[in-house]
Amino acid sequence: MHFQIITFCGSLRAASSNRALLTAVERLVPEGLSVRRYEGVAKLPHFTPDLDHDTLLPAAARDLRDQVAAADGLLFAVPEYMHGLPGSFKNTLDWMVGCQRFPGKPVALAHVSARHAFAPAQLEEVLKTMAARIVPQAGFNLGLTTNDVDVEFLCSNAGHRAAIVAALEAIRKSLCPGPRHK
Ligand SMILES: Cc1cc2nc3c(=O)[nH]c(=O)nc-3n(C[C@H](O)[C@H](O)[C@H](O)COP(=O)(O)O)c2cc1C
Repeated sequence: MHFQIITFCGSLRAASSNRALLTAVERLVPEGLSVRRYEGVAKLPHFTPDLDHDTLLPAAARDLRDQVAAADGLLFAVPEYMHGLPGSFKNTLDWMVGCQRFPGKPVALAHVSARHAFAPAQLEEVLKTMAARIVPQAGFNLGLTTNDVDVEFLCSNAGHRAAIVAALEAIRKSLCPGPRHK
């Protein structure tokens, strides 16, 4: 069976360590899984319920919902800003709420920094409220103390590489239908 996951980078920074992590994910993806990156975070308008209607829905929001609906699972790599989630990323989640096929989808949470003490728990809380199925075994934290990392470093470091591969295997397992019970 083949599954597709969609990844989200919570940072818009050009040299983002979270984006480097997602590029490493694309390089290390195991057989049976393909990865597509959502690139529309900066294109979404500010969320307002006034536009959250079929006839008024902005094209960027419709595209987000279509991409999420088409994916079997999601992977988020999100930094912490001012003890919270980056505003542009939270805006993405607010638009995602209207995706009728989001509830129950498996979600993995990847973290790069050893320093983030608040945003990871906030992200979990928001996703639980959205009825996501967070897969704990697919979550990981590289525990870095710098954001000056690139994909070559992440793929060549044995520990980071193993953490990413293990998380991807866990995502794939979470997507496979389990044995049927009589
Ligand atoms: C405006 C701003 C606020 C930040 N606030 C925090 C914070 O509260 N806690 C923290 O651990 N790091 C904080 N950071 C550091 C970022 O989370 C860190 O640089 C992270 O690596 C950024 O992700 P990126 O490398 O993907 O861009 C902040 C950075 C910026 C620019």
